[in-house]
Amino acid sequence: MKHYEGKTKDFIEKAINEIKSGVLDSPVLCALSGGVDSAVCAVLAQKAVGKNLTCIFVDTGFMRLNEGDYVEKLFKDTHNINLIRVNAEERYLAALKGITEPERKRKIIGETFIRIFEEEAKKLGGIGYLIQGTIYPDIIESGKEGHKNVKSHHNVGGMPTNIEFRGVVEPIKLLYKEQVRSVARELGLPAEFAARQPFPGPGLAVRVLGELTKEKCDMLRHADYIFTSELEKVGLNKKAKQYFAMLPNVASVGVRDKARVYEQAIVIRAVETKDFVSASIVRLPYPFLEKVVNRITQEVKGVNRVVYDLTPKPSGTIEWE
Ligand code: XMP
Repeated sequence: MKHYEGKTKDFIEKAINEIKSGVLDSPVLCALSGGVDSAVCAVLAQKAVGKNLTCIFVDTGFMRLNEGDYVEKLFKDTHNINLIRVNAEERYLAALKGITEPERKRKIIGETFIRIFEEEAKKLGGIGYLIQGTIYPDIIESGKEGHKNVKSHHNVGGMPTNIEFRGVVEPIKLLYKEQVRSVARELGLPAEFAARQPFPGPGLAVRVLGELTKEKCDMLRHADYIFTSELEKVGLNKKAKQYFAMLPNVASVGVRDKARVYEQAIVIRAVETKDFVSASIVRLPYPFLEKVVNRITQEVKGVNRVVYDLTPKPSGTIEWE
């Protein structure tokens, strides 16, 4: 399967027609994550099936700081989309208890996500189709279409085979990220929204290595907020396609108030990339990095060390898991 090479306007028309003919008059559910991919799918689906569309936003508890509320407000209040928010943090943490292997984590997250959808669909009664925001690199990197498996993106390789929907529609699966952004702008989504950095479906679950706990997720949320907001404040985010913090689950010895401490480390990462298949690191100024290190180690309880990841892709991937 080759990626789409035509014009944005033509793509939109084609996608709307394909959704219409793919789902006929059946009700349609859309998985809304708050990212640009699923938002574009929701708007395309709304144009195709109108009131037959219901969007479901699963708050996994692995979102960034305040993100759940932001997503709910944006789509309910601003875009007037029929949105159901499912708060599933406890369920996800319980399902992932004791699990440390990255591919297992992804599979469980993907499966839990689909089960929640099925349950919500049943509550609504007679939901036929699921619209998903899978994009072209997801397919390449999940080992479909003759490519080698890099990791199982939760909405492709992690998908259970016994789904109880009549079908899954993936309207943007032939688009690269930049093409999705251009469709978003053409559809009238706000420019800053169309420019949003990508956020993996499994969220902070793949940015906390090893076993997940609420405490570690909270630590990471706070550190990530400090790093990303500082970067945005001085405009350095414009140099990066993706920038975030992660928690490698490594404790190290440090000193605080003249006493020995044994606390977690945080890794910060900022990358530049054209297609997310390869990436180079952003050379952030030392004074900026030092400010972020000071803030994180002072303000995030339980973190005594911060490192900046200088690894390009390859040999690293953008995410650590
Ligand atoms: P990697 O880590 O493979 O990531 O270099 C490439 C791009 O994909 C994002 N990513 C994901 N997106 N579900 C997604 O929707 C996932 O499971 C997933 N894992 C990674 C990553 O943030 C980067 O933009």
